[in-house]
Amino acid sequence: MLMPFNLKGHPMNRNPNTVVITGASRGIGAALVKVYVQKGAKVIAVSRSTSETAAPDVTPVAADLSTETGIERVMRAVAALGRPVDVLINNAGIQNALDLRCDVDPARIDTEMAINLTAPVKLTLALMPFLRRPGATVVNVTSLVSLHPKPSAPVYSASKAGLASFTRALRHQMVDQGITVIEAVPPLVETDMTRGRGTAKLSPEEMAAAIETGVERGACRIAPEKSKFVLRLNRALPSLVARVLSKE
Ligand SMILES: NC(=O)c1ccc[n+]([C@@H]2O[C@H](COP(=O)([O-])OP(=O)(O)OC[C@H]3O[C@@H](n4cnc5c(N)ncnc54)[C@H](OP(=O)(O)O)[C@@H]3O)[C@@H](O)[C@H]2O)c1
Repeated sequence: MLMPFNLKGHPMNRNPNTVVITGASRGIGAALVKVYVQKGAKVIAVSRSTSETAAPDVTPVAADLSTETGIERVMRAVAALGRPVDVLINNAGIQNALDLRCDVDPARIDTEMAINLTAPVKLTLALMPFLRRPGATVVNVTSLVSLHPKPSAPVYSASKAGLASFTRALRHQMVDQGITVIEAVPPLVETDMTRGRGTAKLSPEEMAAAIETGVERGACRIAPEKSKFVLRLNRALPSLVARVLSKE
């Protein structure tokens, strides 16, 4: 039987065996856990709170990804499992409304940068020896604010722009390893993060399904219809998109 290949020419993982998902306790991450369990994968589900992620094929890992100890804990859990990782999804994130004209606790800036940017970089590095070669996929969940900042969330915007840039650099570095690196760009999704703002939001289940399909195809970027529209519009009318996103 012919082995299927994805868009990058890497062997396609139609049924990934082992998937690591961060931010697994709620929102998009919790929906991703369900999708991959349904596909028969063994899921390592990372978040600070883990009671929600308990299920037979799920290994919950309680880890604060803003700390070195948290990253190490995930690495040890993956090593203990003793099987190669097919998909790593760096999904955990927080968004703080910060007004730098007022008194802002610098610790909040450190934490936001650590969870949104440093953790995906360090976790990818820590799990590098465990990624299946060839065939593994790394997905980094960014945001449309990586295109143009949202003024009320300056550190969030900067962290996501940084993550988008890291994702592109990592893609180049991983080519000869047979590892696919994908940026997932959600539009507004109905989760705790967006509670009380925005309309016509995607459900976490729809976003998770889009990510799963994108991983299977080996796409460079996963952008559901609404994000795709903004990305296209941004090529033609960046100042219009900047204005719209600044009001998000
Ligand atoms: N929702 C949207 O509209 C939207 C749009 C664009 C991009 N995104 C991105 O999509 C990703 C998921 O967002 P979401 O809306 O699903 O968020 P969410 O519902 O607020 O969930 C965030 C997840 O991150 C985990 N988390 C937070 N701090 C953590 C820490 N220090 N260590 C480990 N895990 C931590 C949380 O678990 P614990 O609290 O239990 O640790 C939770 O599982 C984020 O990267 C976000 O920036 C979301």
